[in-house]
Amino acid sequence: MTMMFKSLAATLLLSSATQAFSTVTKTDMSPSYLSNVPEGPPDAILGIAEAFKSCTDERKVNVCVGAYRDSTGKPWILPSVRKAEERLLVDPTVNKEYAPIAGDAKYVDLALGFAYGTDADMTKLAGVQTLSGTGACRVGGHFLSKFVPKPEGMDKVPIYIPNPTWGNHIAIFNNCGMDVRRYRYYNSKTNRLDYDGLIEDLKEAPEGSVILLHACAHNPTGCDPTMEQWKDISDLIKSKKHHCFFDSAYQGFASGDAEADASALRLFVSEGHNVVLAQSFAKNFGLYGERTGTLSVVCNSLEERSAVMSQLKLIIRPMYSSPPIHGSSIVKTVLTDEELTAEYYDNCKEMATRINAMRVKLVEVLKEVGSEHDWSHVTEQIGMFAYTGMNSDMCDELTSKYSIFLTRDGRISLAGLNDGNIEYVAKAVHDVTAGKSITS
Ligand SMILES: Cc1ncc(COP(=O)(O)O)c(C=O)c1O
Repeated sequence: MTMMFKSLAATLLLSSATQAFSTVTKTDMSPSYLSNVPEGPPDAILGIAEAFKSCTDERKVNVCVGAYRDSTGKPWILPSVRKAEERLLVDPTVNKEYAPIAGDAKYVDLALGFAYGTDADMTKLAGVQTLSGTGACRVGGHFLSKFVPKPEGMDKVPIYIPNPTWGNHIAIFNNCGMDVRRYRYYNSKTNRLDYDGLIEDLKEAPEGSVILLHACAHNPTGCDPTMEQWKDISDLIKSKKHHCFFDSAYQGFASGDAEADASALRLFVSEGHNVVLAQSFAKNFGLYGERTGTLSVVCNSLEERSAVMSQLKLIIRPMYSSPPIHGSSIVKTVLTDEELTAEYYDNCKEMATRINAMRVKLVEVLKEVGSEHDWSHVTEQIGMFAYTGMNSDMCDELTSKYSIFLTRDGRISLAGLNDGNIEYVAKAVHDVTAGKSITS
């Protein structure tokens, strides 16, 4: 028996279901393909979350987490979301039947109104409910990979994603069979958007490539183009016949104003792009585990819309059949009731305001504790994260010396900061950065 079989047997013997599984512990089991399955690497971010959980240092701080925490460090259910759930609980028309393949059509319409504006021409929008933003990227990537013509000489559809970007983008679009390439996004010498690099790379990309753009609050850098820059990017994408894929994971959460955070997306639509949009309600509604999102495509006609819808359904059906219904019912309940909608906007603003306050305070306290670095890039950034410019050694030191857990790219989740820990974090950041460069 190999070591693996021995440990499997030991685990199963310890389980309360020993009786039921006793045949698995037989010594005559022949080795199978399973013995050749290699151990995969842990997910970078989830691995840090595990390390935080098992850390026994009382001072520990989690600034890796990509989820909102209130001023006491606790997860927060938005009061408007809670009220919607209470209504659903006593609504006699609610049941647990399957949603259609494309999800709850009413929810999808409301979600698309939230993103594109309530005056958008719904007859041209093909939209389906998805398993949050990740599922939307996955369904969208599959669709693009299947239907975007491959540039000459290429056997896969190229998708250009920013460098850096949300880490999951790389695996998602690779798994969709796309050729994942990067465009420059961040200049670590200035700790600002590398606008010239971005333009050069999009110009160089083969005509007809897919370009992934973060709709607002770019993760991880927090650097967004200005509206003038967005307009120039739109013109360039048009002139190169590229296709745009917008990933919108932070609408409303970035500035506190969902309309303002949709400006870039709406500009591109008004400029005539056949935008593909992945939308997540994880952050802005706090519906992380409810897996609530949409994937939509701006079409040119009713006929196109119908064909696109049919193909999206063909992608979804063998993937997961139909989406979960609880999160979408919450969003639908909130957005169909004026009072709840107003309360929701207040809740969303409250989250954005607290996060922005932490951003400003972090820089203030860094100065107070003696840091002589220019941290103005942090206050210029937007969204959930501060992309500090700290290198991986500094991040490692923060974790080993101070039990402050963060990703090794120097990204700090501002949601993890509060009045109780911000001074501790600022002092630690000062300690590991003093006398060293935070640009490269
Ligand atoms: C840029 C970006 N896109 C998509 C997502 C998807 O998240 P979810 O699948 O939880 O909606 C995230 C989450 O962190 C993100 O930062």
